[in-house]
Amino acid sequence: MNGIPHTPVLIQEAIDALNVTQGNTYIDATTGAGGHGLEIVKRGGVLLGIDQDEKALDIARDRLEREGNTLVSKGAWKLIHGNFRNIETIAREQKFINVSGILFDLGVSSMQLDTPERGFSYRFTDAPLDMRLDQSGGDTAAQLVNRAGAEELYDIFSTYGEEQLARKLSDAVCRARSVKPIVTVRDLIEAVKTVAPNEGARYGILSRVFQGLRIAVNDELGSLRDGLKGAYNVLKPEGRLVVISFHSLEDRIVKQYMRQDIWESVSKHPVRPTEGEINENIRSRSAKMRVAVKKAV
Ligand SMILES: C[S@@+](CC[C@H](N)C(=O)[O-])C[C@H]1O[C@@H](n2cnc3c(N)ncnc32)[C@H](O)[C@@H]1O
Repeated sequence: MNGIPHTPVLIQEAIDALNVTQGNTYIDATTGAGGHGLEIVKRGGVLLGIDQDEKALDIARDRLEREGNTLVSKGAWKLIHGNFRNIETIAREQKFINVSGILFDLGVSSMQLDTPERGFSYRFTDAPLDMRLDQSGGDTAAQLVNRAGAEELYDIFSTYGEEQLARKLSDAVCRARSVKPIVTVRDLIEAVKTVAPNEGARYGILSRVFQGLRIAVNDELGSLRDGLKGAYNVLKPEGRLVVISFHSLEDRIVKQYMRQDIWESVSKHPVRPTEGEINENIRSRSAKMRVAVKKAV
């Protein structure tokens, strides 16, 4: 890590879209390193931060204590370890109901991607193939690739990875694990190499294979669907839902969800990072932010 745990994406745009005002309550459902959350607190918002990664919450807590508590007109904050698919239960337990705004900044943070032992990146070949956002339980990516049938692997690579060579890759993984279990990032790369011997083409394939497995390991799309529904029940009428997504599968779910007539869409097209932001933070390049307002019934 380079000292900056994670550069928040579309930060001004997201905080403006949340319309943060002094003393009102907000939920950051994906606290990460606390970049967006801190900004909410700086503007006087009362924050409930959720993340399923305890290590991320430790970093966010440290930051909020250092920077959030020295503010003149600071907002209050509370951080909770949990999956945002349970946002309604968590919010009710924490007495954060009828909140003014909820933010989802989906996916993984730079600190997760850049920590070798988390197994999220094919750059760290010795790492265990883990990929769990919540390391307190659940199957790792290694357990999944050794257990899943060929058809399930094909589905993961083709649907979640959007990879054209999914069938060949699924067969290659099955062949590799029949010789020895797939345990590390390197083991998976070796299996992919048998389908994509050309190094140039391999990186794109590896990105898609890793994306597919990560989505499956963390049930990211199921969590998103549940989280969006829960968010509706927790927002007050006129409350704002802001979602930043990083790939088309997520964006499609968000777009369709916000199309329902219980929401008023703020704009037809998603907000994208400026060229300047992309130049400074290449990981922002695929971000799309959508905003909706809960209709008063
Ligand atoms: C892109 S990062 C958020 C970065 C954050 N906005 C910041 O400024 O530092 C996404 C975070 O969401 C968390 N996350 C992803 N899916 C989640 C889920 N279903 N429930 C709770 N947290 C989740 C990840 O652990 C990660 O820390």
